[in-house]
Amino acid sequence: MDEDFIGIKNAAISFILEAEDLKSLEETKLQFLGKSGKLTLAIKGITKLPVEKRPAFGILANEVKNAIENALEQQEKILSQKRKSVLLKKIDVTNPGNKPLLGNLHLVTQAIEEISEIFKRIGFARIRYPEIDWDYYAFTSLNFPENHPARDDWETFFIKADPDKKMGRQVLSPHTSSGQVREMEKNKLPIKMLNIAKCYRRQSDVSHTPMFHQFEGLVVDKNISITHLKGTLDYFVKSYFGKERKSRIRPYHFQFTEPSFEVDVTCGVCNGYGCRLCKAGWLEMGGAGIVHPNVLKAGGIDPQKYSGFAFGWGVERVLMMKQGLELDDLRLLYSNDLRFLEQF
Ligand code: PHE
Repeated sequence: MDEDFIGIKNAAISFILEAEDLKSLEETKLQFLGKSGKLTLAIKGITKLPVEKRPAFGILANEVKNAIENALEQQEKILSQKRKSVLLKKIDVTNPGNKPLLGNLHLVTQAIEEISEIFKRIGFARIRYPEIDWDYYAFTSLNFPENHPARDDWETFFIKADPDKKMGRQVLSPHTSSGQVREMEKNKLPIKMLNIAKCYRRQSDVSHTPMFHQFEGLVVDKNISITHLKGTLDYFVKSYFGKERKSRIRPYHFQFTEPSFEVDVTCGVCNGYGCRLCKAGWLEMGGAGIVHPNVLKAGGIDPQKYSGFAFGWGVERVLMMKQGLELDDLRLLYSNDLRFLEQF
């Protein structure tokens, strides 16, 4: 019996000392101390012994068990230490870490923020209005006679719902001008507002998307004239496009302004000389004008006492005009293609 125990102990210890990693140490432990391990089975032999021999057997078995457990513990320490230093050698702490991917604001959102900031500096407050609006705010209150074909210029999406007696049908707001009379109805003068919003028109080709953005300024106060409009236009053009860019206004027609203008900016590519991108040196930015007296009246403002100017320009358009950015297809802006969007 004694010899069996000594044999088991020596065998166990030699295996333990030979173990080269924690895994084989664990295997050795199972082999000797596991449920059907060598030492476990030997200890079970106690039942076959006469009672008087059992105490001495028990003492010896315990000694052997302790010795094996101690050796296991020692060796485990050594191997863990060894593993740590091997791992440390493998890790190059001077390597650059993994950079988390960073997103960025959409090109159009960036432009909207920049435009808002420019107008904020001269006191324009940003206001928002519903994207689904009444025909009344989009057209009738803006001096469009009932059923006037001028509505067609806006290629409007109509909502399939019963019309309201006063407000008419519901529409997807086709321009930011729908906010003009809504703002006047607040009964707070003077007005100096900037309405940047999504607009919807039935159009889809390389230079038009069914949804796009406009930014609209409306100023109503005493003695407002075209000079204020021209000054604001110039300030915006110089702030957004750069000091070297010039602006001009050209006569045009809108129902809700009188006189009405289209505003142009010198082309950033040829600096006003004329190139493939522009019309004889100029790029068109959008509409503007002096608020029509009928529109002031619709908003409850006395046109004898107050006057105003308004402008409505396209966000996508100014964005493209900024660096003479030439997009083959405007729809790229909204196709969620990261290869395109990540460039900005
Ligand atoms: N709402 C006009 C458009 O969408 C632009 C405009 C705004 C014109 C304000 C004059 C005054 O074309």
